[in-house]
Amino acid sequence: MKKIAILTGAGISAESGLGTFRAEGGLWAQHRIEDVATPEGFARDPRLVVNFYNARRAQAAKAEPNEGHRALARLEEAFGGEVIVITQNVDDLHEKAGSQKVMHMHGALKSALCAACDHRWPAPLVMAPGDICPACNSPAARPDIVWFGEMPYDMDEIFEHLASADVFASIGTSGNVYPAAGFVAEARRAGAQTVEFNLEPSLQGSQFDDIRIGSASETLPVWVDELLGR
Ligand code: APR
Ligand code: ZN
Repeated sequence: MKKIAILTGAGISAESGLGTFRAEGGLWAQHRIEDVATPEGFARDPRLVVNFYNARRAQAAKAEPNEGHRALARLEEAFGGEVIVITQNVDDLHEKAGSQKVMHMHGALKSALCAACDHRWPAPLVMAPGDICPACNSPAARPDIVWFGEMPYDMDEIFEHLASADVFASIGTSGNVYPAAGFVAEARRAGAQTVEFNLEPSLQGSQFDDIRIGSASETLPVWVDELLGR
């Protein structure tokens, strides 16, 4: 049974109005990573960090999936084999489009995490520093986001998916951040056919068997129709 492992990055959500990180005027041009995406930043100024994610959570809550997300959901539903989406994104647009098997390796805006007991629960739209953990009652709630210097989630399971993939697709990621940037090498080692979808080749562009240049909302439906023999 054929297996397709799909990595997505901020580029797949760009056409849904959610900003990417490294483009001109992107999120990392507006905010310093060390201030809003590190444990040290959170310790220094929890309100700044919680408000940064409150703003992104509010934006994501209003955002709609685009034809790229919907194509992947259609692929999972109609494909005879297995499809797994491994996303670096913290929005829930894959789920809103109908994808069932989604792994959020960098966490999710819709989830809150307790820094004291690791309990997770659905995040309120607006979090505040010192929110109480419903499991241990400590004022230790934090955004359930994997910050720089922290370990991405479910890496063992992700590497198992890469090791058994027949096809690996990487969509809308610049390839700046590991371990995701190393996934194409893992998939190639496993003998998978590899394809990249981006506006321009990523840093790992030369490692892909095929590159589809264009907006994901246009290139993905074409690819999915090919896979479904339409
Ligand atoms: N269609 C396809 N690709 C697109 C589109 C689009 N419509 N718009 C932008 N892109 C591509 C850009 O060309 C770029 O290669 O999406 C990529 C976005 O790159 P980044 O902004 O670096 O985002 P990403 O690769 O997801 O960042 C990875 O870095 O800051 C951390 O945790 C954060 O998950 C994030 C990680
Ligand atoms: Zn707790």
